[in-house]
Amino acid sequence: MAALCAARRYAGAAQHQEAIITQENRAVGTIVLFGATGDLARRMLIPSLYHLWREDRLAEGTRFIGAARSDLTPNEFRAQAADALTAGAATGYREPEVIADFVRRFDYLAIDADHPATIAALASRVGSSACLHYFATAPQLYGPLASALKAAGLTGDGHRVIVEKPIGHDLASSIAIDDALAAAFREEQIFRVDHYLGKETVQNLIALRFGNALFEPLWRSEGIDFVEITVAETVGLEARAGYYDGSGALRDMVQNHMLQLLALVAMEPPASLDAAAVRNEKIKVLRSLRPLTAASVASHAVAGQYGPGVADGKPARGYAEELGRASATETFAAVRADIDNWRWAGVPFYLRTGKRLASRYTEIVVHFRAVPYSIFAKDGGLLAPNKLIIRLQPEENVRLTLMAKEPGLERDGARLRELGLDLSLSEAFKDVRRRIAYERLLLDAVDGDQTLFVRRDEIEAAWEWVDSIHAGWAAAGITPRPYAAGSWGPAASIALTERFGHSWHE
Ligand code: BG6
Repeated sequence: MAALCAARRYAGAAQHQEAIITQENRAVGTIVLFGATGDLARRMLIPSLYHLWREDRLAEGTRFIGAARSDLTPNEFRAQAADALTAGAATGYREPEVIADFVRRFDYLAIDADHPATIAALASRVGSSACLHYFATAPQLYGPLASALKAAGLTGDGHRVIVEKPIGHDLASSIAIDDALAAAFREEQIFRVDHYLGKETVQNLIALRFGNALFEPLWRSEGIDFVEITVAETVGLEARAGYYDGSGALRDMVQNHMLQLLALVAMEPPASLDAAAVRNEKIKVLRSLRPLTAASVASHAVAGQYGPGVADGKPARGYAEELGRASATETFAAVRADIDNWRWAGVPFYLRTGKRLASRYTEIVVHFRAVPYSIFAKDGGLLAPNKLIIRLQPEENVRLTLMAKEPGLERDGARLRELGLDLSLSEAFKDVRRRIAYERLLLDAVDGDQTLFVRRDEIEAAWEWVDSIHAGWAAAGITPRPYAAGSWGPAASIALTERFGHSWHE
């Protein structure tokens, strides 16, 4: 036992002194994982909790309870959790004896929100300890679980709940889910995850914008011509037909991750990093998004669906073939968003996302305006306007393109070439372990810090805008255009930006 403690301290103590100092402030005594046998719990949540525990970031004595419908004994659940950690814990964190020490702290209960006796059993295990309830379940269960917990006295002060997308499939259904949560928890107790906000590089966006004086004076329509946000994936439907079909790229990626990125790029400087300050700025942006209409949708939004092609060098089936039937669900979306406010009037934000695209990356490209007059125009070639390219994944780097003179003795004027000023975050911080986004989010929820969680009004404003696109598509009879798996989406996506005199950065 002493040896195990030493192993834990060894991994945590030197790097994480600040966490140990603040442990006492943490009110949460029990973390309850609903849906504990599911995919999210296995791949993300159990490994994240293990990393936090192992680095002594959770208060001494924090208890963990897995809850799900399966009728497992605690030992059977512990064996599953240990398997998940053997496969999914960080490199260097997989010693069987440390994993065993962690999983034995997990209790397990078979739970059914419709059977009050099972929730009563949970309440008696929890006692008077304050809980962080993680609903890693289907969203239809959020309401029943919340009301069952309320009836069992597990939603009072000190209790918190974490929920994740999809929070509805449109504005009306999101209101229904949030109303059901609000009947049991106050907004300050509700932590809505958007896992992009837990990514280090997304938080870096805030650092880049507000930790450097350089960008802010140009960060507006006077200095910026247009902005692109791309989240490209190479994966197809995976085993998610039940959720994905009928949902599609707009609901799956744009309503949440991409609009969160847009809000962080476009928001005014918040007064602090406090949850209210940041979220108050994001909501102003989301509320300023110009809704699309039946008249504007054809020129401003493209839907696509992949057909057969190539993925990772191998032949890939089309979406309909994978699904086993025809479908009108879009696996690709490209949209021109307009933010109707003083800072961004007239600046297009192009959003593009899709499955089975040519490569996997997430990138924000800020295109600055051209110089007002070129003294090089005659012989020096065209001046390419500066770009700030923020690559969020898979590599993390920031590149600022600049025009520089090519070396030479030309007497008829300088020759210029576009070069990049490169900042490789992956390289600069190569000794720092890359965390699972959920580690940050779980720790913040334990601390009660909502800065990186999405507030109800943000969800609703985002749905309102996304609903306007769906309504526009329906009214204009627009259905997804085919594109080959392994390509960059339908040709209409290229036409979308070119229509406004722009082109995607490739
Ligand atoms: C999820 C979507 O929210 O994000 C998935 O439901 C998508 O369809 C995933 O694949 C992408 O996340 P990441 O972290 O791999 O970029």
